[in-house]
Amino acid sequence: IRRIGVLTSGGDCAGLNAVIRAVTHRAVGTYGWKVLGILDGTLGLMDRPLRYTELDLDGFAGHDILRAGGTVLGTINKGDPFNFPMPDGGFMDRSLDFVDGFHRLELDGLIVIGGDGSMRILKKLCDKGSIGMVGVPKTIDNDVEGTEYAVGFSTAVNVVTEALDRLQATAASHHRVMILEVMGRDAGHIAMNAGIAGGADVILVPEMPYTLDGITQRIRTVQAEGRSHALIVVAEGVKTLDGQSAMQRHTGGEMRYGGIGAYLSDHIEQATNIETRVTILGHVQRGGIPSMRDRLLASVFGVHAVDLLAQRRFGRMVAWQNRGAIDLPLEDVCIGPRCLDPKGPLVHTAHGLGIYVGEAGC
Ligand code: F6P
Repeated sequence: IRRIGVLTSGGDCAGLNAVIRAVTHRAVGTYGWKVLGILDGTLGLMDRPLRYTELDLDGFAGHDILRAGGTVLGTINKGDPFNFPMPDGGFMDRSLDFVDGFHRLELDGLIVIGGDGSMRILKKLCDKGSIGMVGVPKTIDNDVEGTEYAVGFSTAVNVVTEALDRLQATAASHHRVMILEVMGRDAGHIAMNAGIAGGADVILVPEMPYTLDGITQRIRTVQAEGRSHALIVVAEGVKTLDGQSAMQRHTGGEMRYGGIGAYLSDHIEQATNIETRVTILGHVQRGGIPSMRDRLLASVFGVHAVDLLAQRRFGRMVAWQNRGAIDLPLEDVCIGPRCLDPKGPLVHTAHGLGIYVGEAGC
């Protein structure tokens, strides 16, 4: 191995730069390799001229980016080279451009920092082009299979927990129900973790269908216990008992971020007569200074990923399990989102705290 590439793919999150920094340190500092940072995810290798930047220890990748949110390399969400969106609305297979770009740069390996979807696409691409790939899991949703934690999750949970702390004060002052809508398209890890840590009364997640009655009953119980305010955390991808996405119902079929909170608010006000307000946290969850945990995880993953390339152990993803870094074959992790376990310890804890988390047994 002499030259490697590193790219970030899919939605950004805090801690990506810390991975890029760790990869650069290990590859350049320990092994003496050249590291090329591919710009804007898969695009950097598909575009002509190719778009990349050399990463070295005296440059920005060596020092200053540890604390910075986002990704200095840039990223795109809709960059599937097998199904690349064209300006006329159609799609085109540009996978060969990607493979050709990789070989033109004479790279010996590629580190992909990505979520569940990106990992799947990049694995297919690398298989097609005989590219030695190693994956590093990142996503605020924490839904990559095979790892207990992905880079970005911890910071996002801290942001949501702090939002709940702030909302609690204003909720109590005004005797209101506060609904906090958070990200989580397929999995409710952010909502469940931050909801418990932030003292929510209701936590709604995609894995556990809810009923409007269940929510209002919980709020009535809170009132009966002598409290005139309540906190609700809802993940964007929640579903009702009939399996419909509440957001789709609210928006007339369209699936987009932001909307479920307003739908719930209307119902709660009508049913309980308590004033209700909605906060959509949105992309605030993705930005900002990475938490200590994300910086640590990013650093561990970055070093481990480079070591895998050095050993020519391609086609693997680094992961965190049982207090340590491990690695797994990519085919074992590209199997769909890792969902919250409705029978797991967090849901059990939520039940124990009297939090409404949807219908039991679903
Ligand atoms: O996949 C992570 C995520 O944060 C989802 O929870 C959310 O639906 C999505 O990104 C939004 O991404 P964007 O607005 O960048 O398309």
